[in-house]
Amino acid sequence: MTPLSLTTSVLIVEDEVDLRQTIAECLESEGFAAAQAADAADASDRLKGFAYDALVVDLRLPDGDGMRVLEEAVARYPGISAVVITGFGGVTEAVTAIKHGAIDFFIKPFQMTQLARVLRASVDQRKLREENAELRAQLRERFSFDSIIGRHSTMQALFSTLELVSPMNSTVLIQGETGTGKELIARTIHHNSPRADHRFVGFNAAAIPEGLAEAELFGHVKGAFTGAVSARVGRFELAHRGTLFIDEVASMSLPLQAKLLRALQEREVERVGESRSVKFDIRVIAATNTDLRKLVKEGTFREDLYYRLNVIPVILPTLRERQEDIPLLARHFVHKSCKENGLTQKTLTQDALRLLMSYDWPGNIRQFENAMEHAVAMSVARPEIGPEALPMELRDRSLAPASPTMAIPDEGINFTDVVSQLERDLILRCLEKTGGNKRQAARLLNLSRTTFIDKLQRLQVA
Ligand SMILES: Nc1ncnc2c1ncn2[C@@H]1O[C@H](COP(=O)(O)OP(=O)(O)OP(=O)(O)O)[C@@H](O)[C@H]1O
Ligand SMILES: [Mg+2]
Repeated sequence: MTPLSLTTSVLIVEDEVDLRQTIAECLESEGFAAAQAADAADASDRLKGFAYDALVVDLRLPDGDGMRVLEEAVARYPGISAVVITGFGGVTEAVTAIKHGAIDFFIKPFQMTQLARVLRASVDQRKLREENAELRAQLRERFSFDSIIGRHSTMQALFSTLELVSPMNSTVLIQGETGTGKELIARTIHHNSPRADHRFVGFNAAAIPEGLAEAELFGHVKGAFTGAVSARVGRFELAHRGTLFIDEVASMSLPLQAKLLRALQEREVERVGESRSVKFDIRVIAATNTDLRKLVKEGTFREDLYYRLNVIPVILPTLRERQEDIPLLARHFVHKSCKENGLTQKTLTQDALRLLMSYDWPGNIRQFENAMEHAVAMSVARPEIGPEALPMELRDRSLAPASPTMAIPDEGINFTDVVSQLERDLILRCLEKTGGNKRQAARLLNLSRTTFIDKLQRLQVA
């Protein structure tokens, strides 16, 4: 069965059989699925039962007025592409039809191919509009605050800042280690700003060779330098009315920093090789994973540019600073990965969760997300994800003792949990070393066998 949405349907309402038939044949040969009605009553019945993409209606029908059919169709399906056909002398009525929502009118005799062309263009345009609206809705969902996971106080504070700052025009400087979500936050700000319908243009200062960065950012005219075979619009111009995201801003050379500062101050840019400057209206969001203030002190980052960018500072916490968000994040990414791979949902075992929480995640959420994808892939056939499904680096670490120099977060730690985790780690490591021999493991820890067994049972390691 062909899905209806793929074919474009049209209802032809015309009492002259020959003409109706010719229109139907012509439209069918252009890929429309044509239904026919000989009078207003039949047309009205059909319209009640089906949402046609297009309508061709004769204004003079034996049992009534084609205009009423048009009105009914437009009222029922406001996006319908309707054209009216009328005999010679019907121009005034045809104009009224346009006022009632028809997209065009044709005076008999008319060219069939012209009718097909008008309908096709209108239907395609409408589908495109709907698709765009759909895409925008998807983007809105993806970059809504709800899609940024985090319950920790630092994340709650971040959400408040985002809500406050997104609708404004102020420059934002996002600082955070790799994988903490800098780009996600930048896109979220854009999609929740009045600029959401315009572009979000990225510029990664670390990914573009220094010699090309200026032209990339500001554009160039044809022949501005060797290799500039045609003119190019820069990222600044592309982002007009939208948002320019300058990623890894610390990697910019000092000369480029000077040009960026000038552009931001003057709100205009000059393409390379041209003396005329162009005004722009953009919001800038910059991101860095290095401490810009330190670079300012060292003299590799301009102080004036730092202040220009750091109007609203947003500092993203590392994942190890918000360990209690791990169960939430784990559920989120496992759910996402199962859904994407068409698998039934899985849960993590307590042991797996414990491992996730004892790791320090140097690659932050990006590494965490990858680990969850890995775990789902390793447990395709099982409803639960256990420690064995986690990436090697986590499992290796579980055998190392909890570090006595571990960072103590502001909200403190659970002493009992940390100590039992350490006891558990030591016991497991010794059991592993002795191939499961409890007597030898106890000896390695200088514990009596009974104390050792007692601990095993209390910590539920046995
Ligand atoms: N709080 C969060 N909730 C859900 N997903 C997140 C969150 N933070 C980051 N992510 C996801 O983690 C991944 C990495 O995020 P992103 O690319 O924004 O990080 P980044 O800070 O720009 O990293 P880098 O410095 O390496 O460029 C993305 O897939 C992003 O969607
Ligand atoms: Mg990034």
